[in-house]
Amino acid sequence: MNRRTNLVVITFFLSLNILFGQEVYKNKKAPIESRIKDLIKKMSLNEKILQLNQFTFGINNNPNNIGEEITSLPPGIGSVIYFTGDPVLRNKLQKKAIEESRLGIPILFGFDIIHGLRTVYPISLGQASSWNLELVKLNCAAAAKESVLSGIDWTFSPMVDVARDPRWGRVAEGYGEDPYVNAMFGVASIKGYQGENLSDPFSIAACLKHYVGYGLSEGGRDYTYTNISRQSLWETYMLPYEAGVKAGAATLMSGFNDISGVPATINQYTLTDVLKKRWGHDGFVVSDWNAIEQLLNQGVAKDKKEAGLKAFNAGVEMDMKDGIYLKYFKELVEEKKISVAKIDEAVSRILRVKFRLGLFDEPYTIIVDEKDRYLQKQSKSLAQNLAEESMVLLKNKNTILPLRPSVKKIALIGPIANDKENIMGAWSFNGKATDVESIFEGFKSEFGSGTQINYAKGCDFDGTDESKFSEAITAANNSDVVVVCLGELKTWSGENASRSSIALPAIQEKLVMELKKTGKPIILILSSGRPLELVRLEPLADAIIEIWQPGIAGGTPLAGIVSGRINPSGKLAITFPLTTGQIPTYYSMRQSSRPFDKQGHYQDIPTEPLYWFGHGLSYTNFEYGKAKLSTTKLKKGEKLKVSVVVKNSGEFSGKETVLWYVSDPVATISRPIKELKFFEKKEIKGGEEYEFIFEIDPVRDLSYPDENGNQILEAGLFYIHVNDQKIEIELL
Ligand code: BGC
Repeated sequence: MNRRTNLVVITFFLSLNILFGQEVYKNKKAPIESRIKDLIKKMSLNEKILQLNQFTFGINNNPNNIGEEITSLPPGIGSVIYFTGDPVLRNKLQKKAIEESRLGIPILFGFDIIHGLRTVYPISLGQASSWNLELVKLNCAAAAKESVLSGIDWTFSPMVDVARDPRWGRVAEGYGEDPYVNAMFGVASIKGYQGENLSDPFSIAACLKHYVGYGLSEGGRDYTYTNISRQSLWETYMLPYEAGVKAGAATLMSGFNDISGVPATINQYTLTDVLKKRWGHDGFVVSDWNAIEQLLNQGVAKDKKEAGLKAFNAGVEMDMKDGIYLKYFKELVEEKKISVAKIDEAVSRILRVKFRLGLFDEPYTIIVDEKDRYLQKQSKSLAQNLAEESMVLLKNKNTILPLRPSVKKIALIGPIANDKENIMGAWSFNGKATDVESIFEGFKSEFGSGTQINYAKGCDFDGTDESKFSEAITAANNSDVVVVCLGELKTWSGENASRSSIALPAIQEKLVMELKKTGKPIILILSSGRPLELVRLEPLADAIIEIWQPGIAGGTPLAGIVSGRINPSGKLAITFPLTTGQIPTYYSMRQSSRPFDKQGHYQDIPTEPLYWFGHGLSYTNFEYGKAKLSTTKLKKGEKLKVSVVVKNSGEFSGKETVLWYVSDPVATISRPIKELKFFEKKEIKGGEEYEFIFEIDPVRDLSYPDENGNQILEAGLFYIHVNDQKIEIELL
């Protein structure tokens, strides 16, 4: 609808209202914009200000955000962070808003559904390593359904902060180091959460976060400064947000970080000039937890009132939890520092999301039995499929895996081997250890009674206690092979969970060193929320599998990979540096004046990381044919097809992900070594082949942004990279 028709429709519905005394905003059939306009006209300033605030209610189980429990919320508030997840209680609160507030505006219930609610899926970093967009979309749709049935309308997810430093605990929450991968998985998850239409019964609103650049936290420490030039902002950090906004993300959350001196919470450029004006986002932005008050710590506001004023004027419509908007906005309007028109605009954005979600028409949650609410068969099998595809076989010396049928005794050792709590990962507040299948359980059911599983914990996650080593060594001595399951506590990832080193604690490394002395083959299983420093462990292991934090259903998929029932297909969405000292290491580094294979390398350690982004082995062999081009020269406006036939020359059926990169050797602004532009995952049966095709659209795939976000497309040579081939093309 264009502006003019829109105006005519709005006027038509408003006149109907006058004629029949009907409340337009309550009329389901009226267009949303008419309903918003009608409601805004009826609201007092106080009612409007209430809409701009998000309260917390219930038990706050995010340890970083200890908030007071609000037991008596005023009716007519904008939103609540709903930690409780109890639909009956939600309906009570909603009833109060609908029946006791003057205009009956429903509350928007938000919560962190990061990788599932009760059905806990693999962490996002693992999800990205599956390269399976469809599975991610489906898991988000299933998570949305559990959320709706728990009284939640809005999730603070997906996080699409491009990761640069694995010491930062939040790399677990995003989709790794590549902007395009973050964009694609961000979009898949928005589509899953929001469905075809936000008003569908099981859709929830998504929230792209943390806008923008939070992934560059200095030193990997959380909440710190991020030094981001406009050029890098556009090249690296904006892409997933732009894609997410285009895919219809209902809301965004601003980041805690300070972007080169102007915190994300008050960044007029990113919040208003780009997001609202340029990309036309018509939903709203919520601040991060306490971020408005923290502007005082960041040194950009003298008091809370000024902090609120700056955040609001920059484009943050909703104050998460601080109560600053609530406390100071009336005064700020009276002092004419905030205009009523600006308040109306912000309230309209919040109401728009509520109308789109259908909250005015169906404000209450359907109450279903707990057994029909959570852990449905389909969600559990999704969790299992996603865990399976996210696991990455990093090393397989002498094809030790899959285990030969002659292996009849397996030593299963390590702090992760029988763990149920930590393999759920961070942000799994509603997950229950009793729902989780441990690795030990997975092995027992996979291998059955014909194989002996000799379990020993060996050691704790951390500390110096070696007293359990001897039991582990005995188990190893009594077995044909040793499967050592090491990893991280879930509290080592997520918010405020930075680590100065990405190595596992010395006790875990020492356990492997001792086990190695038994002379038995060592299969290393790693469960972590970040890449790990494996410089000492890798030489000791015959095989290594990274399982991330797989959620409730990791045991069976892992055991299936070890037994050979499942062919691993994950590939790393983030580079594993050889040592912590190599950080930052990511594949799309900009070209240097003396490439590091020649000079500019470290004197004391190799400069190459241990495993690059995209690394991941299979039990079969995928042979890449010679890539073919539909043309070698093309003009802007034309398209080019590049294809490669991949043959599965082994016996195992397997899934291969083909990654297509582009590089631009000469440009006005120097380009990264290469950039991922497209990927496709496909199952190919043993002996069969498949033709993978990448259709290059020069405007989309060969251009790059300048520091103002304008795309530059320059004629000249480009290279397409696929597998180990480098193919030259020319843009005329
Ligand atoms: C985190 C956000 C989260 C919010 C609400 C903040 O501390 O940074 O990612 O969505 O809390 O729990």
